[in-house]
Amino acid sequence: MTPKDGSPGVKKQAPDDLKREAGYYAAEMVEDGMVIGLGTGSTVAFAIDRMAERVREGLRVRGVPTSFQAEIRARNRGIPLATLNDYPELDLAIDGADQVDESLRLIKGRGAALTREKCVAAAAGELVIVVDESKVIPVLDGPVPVEVLPFALRPVILGIQALGGDAILRMGIRKDGPVVTDNGNFVLDCSFGTIADPERLEGLLSLMPGVLSCGLFCAFADKTTVVVGKGDGCRELTR
Ligand code: 5RP
Repeated sequence: MTPKDGSPGVKKQAPDDLKREAGYYAAEMVEDGMVIGLGTGSTVAFAIDRMAERVREGLRVRGVPTSFQAEIRARNRGIPLATLNDYPELDLAIDGADQVDESLRLIKGRGAALTREKCVAAAAGELVIVVDESKVIPVLDGPVPVEVLPFALRPVILGIQALGGDAILRMGIRKDGPVVTDNGNFVLDCSFGTIADPERLEGLLSLMPGVLSCGLFCAFADKTTVVVGKGDGCRELTR
């Protein structure tokens, strides 16, 4: 199994200024005293940077990171950290996404942090998703990352094929062999073409034995604000 062009790992990245715009905007939504879920990826990294500046200016927050990437970035910049076990209920989470549809359903997981991101999104009172314009589309059609227990890799691949999907084991870049998640598992990038019923697909994937979670995030739209960086300011999308 080899990575193919078009997998999330080789997707063309948006310019940094659009990501910075969205990330900085979201960081201004954080209020004193909040406990914040810190998402993973290159867009939310800008939110972490700006939040850290605000902490140096006197803002009191605690961050619950969704990955080693977020943890290292936030710790290095002086954001006090905590865990989901310290704070099972969070005020707000800020995260990125790979695709956002008109109903604010998401595909996430290019950074392989989808399982912790889903735990943090579920725990948050509000979810702020930071993206650039290219990620907002009418209908989800990108590959859906699925975190899978290595023990159950082949049964899960067969299960995804039975749903009409094409599952590709995500391979490391500057590491031989498969990507291993922060939880010690593998990631399958699963193409289904246009996803007509994302809720149903999320349910079916999530129920497969050996699947930790999938990158479809359909249950959070009511508490989601999408911040879209456009280059000349941000627009907010809510339901
Ligand atoms: C990581 C994610 C990321 O939030 C998502 O892939 C967006 O990343 P970026 O902002 O770098 O495009 O889901 O698992």
